[in-house]
Amino acid sequence: MSRQLIFNIFRYNPQDPGSLPRTDTFILEETPSMTLFIALNRIREEQDPSLQFDFACRMAICGSCGMVINGRPGLACKTLTKELPAEITLMPLPVFKLVGDLSVDTGTWFRTTNTKIQSWIHTDQEFDPAVVEERMENDLANAIFELERCIECGCCVAACGTANMREDFVGAFALNRIARFMLDPRDQRSEAEYFEVVGTDQGVFGCMGLLACEDVCPRELPLQDQLGILRRKMGFISLKSLFKPKARAAS
Ligand code: SF4
Ligand code: F3S
Ligand code: FES
Repeated sequence: MSRQLIFNIFRYNPQDPGSLPRTDTFILEETPSMTLFIALNRIREEQDPSLQFDFACRMAICGSCGMVINGRPGLACKTLTKELPAEITLMPLPVFKLVGDLSVDTGTWFRTTNTKIQSWIHTDQEFDPAVVEERMENDLANAIFELERCIECGCCVAACGTANMREDFVGAFALNRIARFMLDPRDQRSEAEYFEVVGTDQGVFGCMGLLACEDVCPRELPLQDQLGILRRKMGFISLKSLFKPKARAAS
């Protein structure tokens, strides 16, 4: 026998001065292999066309359907209702700007943070436009690819207590990005340049090791390993700078 699901959904439209934050309840009959994405579409089609939420790929690759599902950030398109109790509470991801109901603007946050940490290959090398690929050792390419799998869904940021309390903290996503560039031989940044972007209190030294980021990452990125490695590398760079020989004053 199929279950009657009870959805308690956060509603608020910041664009409408008459709108007040509230919770609306919807009842839906569960169907086999139902995901939250399917359930939300049915609610919108059959019960309330004004319900706002985001999605694009429905395959856990675009990162747009992140929301807080019974208190835990996750992807609506990847979450099966059969894995949840019959009563489901859905809230928008915190930290990001609310667009309306379950829809948040992750794009602005990721663009700003990517710019802040200079999330691109820095190189002066000239590339031959006729050569589309550069050779790289398989193991190295795989290690870089492992960290490239992030889909910028925002779940790790929303789950992080530090990111919720401190607007200036760049979060596990950004620290993972820098770890990825530090592995890449094409990125010619010096240790000091990496240190400048993440060897700070807004970066790796602001992380309080709360671990929620890795727990909720839908791509199962090894965020804890990367944070540990980065903290050690940044600590080492900081120590080295303390013991740099002093420049002699000109006599
Ligand atoms: Fe989402 Fe994981 Fe990327 Fe964080 S690291 S934005 S949780 S895919
Ligand atoms: Fe936040 Fe993850 Fe650090 S949850 S405090 S970034 S370990
Ligand atoms: Fe693309 Fe869920 S719709 S990740």
